[in-house]
Amino acid sequence: MSRAVYVLGGGGHSRVVLDTLLASMVSVAGVLDSNMTVGERVFNVPVMGGDDLLDTLAPSAVLLLNGLGANPNTRLRARLFDDLKARRFEFAVLRHPSVVMGVECHVGQGVQMMAGVVLQPRVHVGENAVINTNVSVDHDCAIGTHAFVSPGVVLSGHVSIAESAFVGVGAVLLPHVSIGEHAVVGGGGVVTENVPAGWIVVGNPAVKVGINE
Ligand SMILES: CC(C)(COP(=O)(O)OP(=O)(O)OC[C@H]1O[C@@H](n2cnc3c(N)ncnc32)[C@H](O)[C@@H]1OP(=O)(O)O)[C@@H](O)C(=O)NCCC(=O)NCCS
Repeated sequence: MSRAVYVLGGGGHSRVVLDTLLASMVSVAGVLDSNMTVGERVFNVPVMGGDDLLDTLAPSAVLLLNGLGANPNTRLRARLFDDLKARRFEFAVLRHPSVVMGVECHVGQGVQMMAGVVLQPRVHVGENAVINTNVSVDHDCAIGTHAFVSPGVVLSGHVSIAESAFVGVGAVLLPHVSIGEHAVVGGGGVVTENVPAGWIVVGNPAVKVGINE
């Protein structure tokens, strides 16, 4: 028996997830979002209720996609994933048909790769991470659990992004730099040096402007 596919959340990121599922010919049973009206439709997919609907479903009968975004905080989508995984629900890997993945790449449960993503060889992506539209990830990179890489980001070789970090739209990360846990790289930033955990950096070259509380 095939499992019923549900997308959690009905906002902007969720619509990209739904569009990617449609492009992949995956049939979606419903959207779960307690802030929306039951019966409302997102791209013709019905809103079925809130996450509490999952209380009535067997985890083995369901496949989930995390539709929560991160702008720039990744905590909410991380908590949703961890809570439901602990309850034995499974998250699907989302891979747009246009994604190119090199040899010896590994992606964890619930990883989302949108249109135009390129992963060169030996890239490791942790669970629940998002590699958004047209991101280029070069060889030997590591992207941590719950990390969020925004559209158009370029990762050079041997870059590492730690758990729950956020990289803003169009940022460029030079070879061998590492981004610490929960750090934020602002949109358009050019990262030339390692970014410690929790720092917010912006600009070219990217410099510290704050702490991600
Ligand atoms: C870095 C970021 C998180 C800071 O957000 P914030 O704390 O709300 O910052 P503010 O908008 O209040 O801006 C504070 C200052 O930093 C500057 N600034 C903000 N983001 C900047 C950026 N990416 N590059 C350069 N300067 C930036 C602002 O111009 C402002 O300068 P000022 O104090 O001289 O007026 C945010 O601006 C950003 O870049 N987010 C990325 C969004 C993104 O990529 N989303 C994709 C989702 S798919």
